[in-house]
Amino acid sequence: MTLTAGQKIVVASHNEGKLREFADLMVPFGLEAKSAKDFGLPEPEETGTTFEQNAYIKAFAAASATGLPALSDDSGLVVDALDGQPGVYTADWAQKPEGGRDFMMAMQKTEDMLRQRRVTTEAERSGRFVAVICLCQPDGEAEYFRGEAEGHLVWPPRGEKGFGYDPIFVPQGFSQTFGEMTAEEKHGWKPGETEALSHRARAFQKFARAKLGAL
Ligand code: IMP
Repeated sequence: MTLTAGQKIVVASHNEGKLREFADLMVPFGLEAKSAKDFGLPEPEETGTTFEQNAYIKAFAAASATGLPALSDDSGLVVDALDGQPGVYTADWAQKPEGGRDFMMAMQKTEDMLRQRRVTTEAERSGRFVAVICLCQPDGEAEYFRGEAEGHLVWPPRGEKGFGYDPIFVPQGFSQTFGEMTAEEKHGWKPGETEALSHRARAFQKFARAKLGAL
C-alpha cells in the first residue's frame, strides 16, 4: 500500500520524545499524524523479545482499534560490552518502582555496569541505537523498516535537548551527544539529501522511500 499526502496515520506511541520526532519527520510528506494518546488508546504490554515483535504489538493494537494505518517505533540502546543490553528492555531500565520513568537512573545503571566490567576506552564503550518502525494495516498486514546509529557511550551525561538516553550517546564521527544536538542535527536528514543520522530518522527514511516515494 502506498501512502499519500493528507493520509491520516496513527503514531502508535505514548512517548513524548518519539512523538515529537515523528511529527518533525512526517511534516515534509504532508502526513497527518495522530498519536495513540489522541485516540485515548491504552499502551499495550510489550511482551516481545525483539524490536520487530514489540513494534508489531504496538502498531497492530493501534491500527485495529482505529481502523487507520498505524506506524510504531520500537527502539533501544544496544551496548556491545553489556552483551547487547539494555536492548528491548531500554525503557524498562528507567522504570521506577512507584511508577513513572527516570532516565538519569537508567543511564547511571548502564554506566555502573560498564564500570563493573572495567570498560573504559571509547572503543570498548561502543554501541548503537536501534529503531524498528512497523507500518501496520487494520487487517494486520505489516511492514518493517530498521534504522541503526553507531556510536559510543560517554560519562557524565551531556545536554538537555533530547530525551531518554540521548545525553550519554555520541554518534560515530561526532563529538556532541544526541542530547547536545538540535532535533535537526540529530535527524541529520532533509528530504532529497544524503543519509539520515539518528536511528529513527534512518528507519523513517527507509519507510519514506518505500511508501512515500521519497528520494
Ligand atoms: P520503547 O520503544 O517504547 O520500548 O522504548 C525505547 C526506549 O529507548 C525509550 O524509552 C528511550 O529510553 C530509548 N530510546 C529510544 N530512542 C531513543 C532516542 O532517540 N534517544 C534516546 N533514547 C532513546
